[in-house]
Amino acid sequence: MKLPNAESYRIKMVEPIHRSNRPEREEWIKDVNFNLFNLKSNQVYVDLLTDSGTGAMSDKQWSEMMLGDESYAGASSYYKLKNAIKDITGFDYFLPTHQGRAAENVLFSTLIKEGDIVPGNSHFDTTKAHIEFRKSHAVDCTIDEAFDTVLDHPFKGNIDLNKLEKVLMDNPKEKIPLIIVTVTCNSSGGQPVSMKNMRDVSALAHKYDVPVYYDSARFAENAYFIKLREENYLDVSVRNIVKEMFSYADGMTMSSKKDAIVNMGGFIGFKHKDIFDKASVYNILFEGYLTYGGMSGRDMNALAQGLYEGTEFDYLKTRIDQVALLGQMLKDHGIPVQYPFGGHAIFVDAKRFLPHIPKEEYIAQTLAVELFIEGGVRGVEIGSIMADRDPETGLNRYPDLELMRLAIPRRTYTNDHMKYVAAALINVYERRDQIKKGFRITKEAPILRHFTVELERV
Ligand code: F0G
Repeated sequence: MKLPNAESYRIKMVEPIHRSNRPEREEWIKDVNFNLFNLKSNQVYVDLLTDSGTGAMSDKQWSEMMLGDESYAGASSYYKLKNAIKDITGFDYFLPTHQGRAAENVLFSTLIKEGDIVPGNSHFDTTKAHIEFRKSHAVDCTIDEAFDTVLDHPFKGNIDLNKLEKVLMDNPKEKIPLIIVTVTCNSSGGQPVSMKNMRDVSALAHKYDVPVYYDSARFAENAYFIKLREENYLDVSVRNIVKEMFSYADGMTMSSKKDAIVNMGGFIGFKHKDIFDKASVYNILFEGYLTYGGMSGRDMNALAQGLYEGTEFDYLKTRIDQVALLGQMLKDHGIPVQYPFGGHAIFVDAKRFLPHIPKEEYIAQTLAVELFIEGGVRGVEIGSIMADRDPETGLNRYPDLELMRLAIPRRTYTNDHMKYVAAALINVYERRDQIKKGFRITKEAPILRHFTVELERV
């Protein structure tokens, strides 16, 4: 018999979680105005709200925490992290920040001015918000295939070179401070970008003298997909793939809470010293001194270790296989999910799940609420609530895809939890015709409204 794959780690410490009953959950979700962010974590049984900062650190990472150097300036933890970043990404210069959006804040303060245009592949919501906050525009150049959840395409995170070149041709270079390539592309379903696409984007960008930065939160998962799916990479190690990916970029922002498997942290990597110098001023202003940014010494130590663990093949295989296990169970029951399955999450196509709910009633949010009521599983809406209103017209934006994301924390849940989640969503699918109405918004913030929005049933 062929031996099956099993996890590349065993469990040394556990954290109890509790199941609830349906009447309790119906009450709790109503009490928080149907916003899943406002639930208390102990009201949730399996929490798939995000894979960000929710991973389980290893014994080595916890040991590193004890070795943290908390000196204000010149801490050994800073140099440990600097060496790890150089080793894994190849970037010579870096700035520590407290998380990914802080890295965006510092980098964009350095590069972006009012009226600028920032092309990319489905910018993540904080990235887009940081661009729009500066009264500039994010232009989505993702390939059209990404928006067809049924279509099988190995690299749905790719940038459409024609769309990108049109933006580069139609605008003066002074108006395009950078191109952002998000690896993997979260908003299109945790979908990877191919090495060829990164190479081509880099060549095109440099032809127009525009720098390329990667939003790298899930760079290791992206590299794993390149190894499995792209010609000529099967025999290349994940670490070498990562090095090649970053060789085409001028810099990177990182939310370390994802692929570096820490609970908090981020950084910016730079190829060029002049930009690093300019950004350093903002880093001191917003984050902290250059050798700690927004991080404590122990956190930098754990992050340095996490960068190595997060780029190990066996770990990545365990991780991506677990995500695919959930995806396959759902797909086998006819539930419409973004296919191929993403790296960090399964994205359920809510428009096809609940075709009778109008888009004005927030389809993906309706589905996420139903899943919570069914099984105490918390997913998140990636749809028109998250898309915010158009800052110029004030009208709701309805993205092509209304998705409910089930993000899987790293090394946290077992495959039995995945079976539980699948069963809960299958139950919702079987009673989908009885879900007759969605929601309307009763209160919202002007930007990033999904975090605090309040809703009522239509
Ligand atoms: N870029 C991407 C692609 C992300 O997915 C995130 C965060 C960020 C940047 C911002 O990083 O949270 O450390 O400030 N994504 C989380 C998520 C929140 O749930 O997908 P951060």
